[in-house]
Amino acid sequence: MFFDTHTHLDDEKFDTDRDELIASFKGEGLALAVNIGANIKTSKNSIALAEKYDFIYASVGVHPNDVAGMTESDLVKLEEWAKHPRVVAIGEIGLDYHYDEPDPEIQKVWFERQLLLAKKLNMPYVVHDRDAHADVLEIIKKAGYFNGVMHCFSGSAEMARQVTDLGMYVSIAGQVTFKNAPKVQAVALCVPLDKLLIETDSPYLTPEPFRGKRNNSSYVKYTAQKIAELRGMEVAEIAKITMENGRRFYNI
Ligand code: NI
Repeated sequence: MFFDTHTHLDDEKFDTDRDELIASFKGEGLALAVNIGANIKTSKNSIALAEKYDFIYASVGVHPNDVAGMTESDLVKLEEWAKHPRVVAIGEIGLDYHYDEPDPEIQKVWFERQLLLAKKLNMPYVVHDRDAHADVLEIIKKAGYFNGVMHCFSGSAEMARQVTDLGMYVSIAGQVTFKNAPKVQAVALCVPLDKLLIETDSPYLTPEPFRGKRNNSSYVKYTAQKIAELRGMEVAEIAKITMENGRRFYNI
């Protein structure tokens, strides 16, 4: 049985068939999932999903692309929501320099504020890092709190080592199944087994053999299969290890 540690089942792409799809997950081998908030609205939606389904938990946080209008009262709201019994983490938070907006200085402020909120509440946090690795690490080191995961990791094996040396987790998504993904495959091969998580980030990043179609949490097994193949292990072992890691990380 698999644990999808990062999914967005509240996304509008699931509006037509969400309940049927989620009802099919257990039959597909999915035992647990964390639905990740990316702004105030989706954080609220994540909690609603987690209240409805016993095997889905929630995280609350504002993604770097959504921090432009963030306010102090949003931070207060996140803190209240974080105390909800179904909320297991702060996230996704971080830095995204792929586009020019919002201003990196604004992104840094809200990344740090939300990271310090996780620290204050002694909760794990989920990091989105796109083209911003040095600044992400600097802010994490400054906060001195390493109970986090680098989600959908796209950095080098060397960067993965820096992160796991700090005690953080690395989460591998569907790109590892792509033919032309030597970097992610190298990371999947070298990350210490006790720091490895798997995720779908659905509805995005659909793994092979469904690349190009809508992703969903049950496809996390294809990522597990690929990692098992790369490491010369049984997929059941990868499932068990990533289940234990995910439960430890999120305190589930
Ligand atoms: Ni995500």
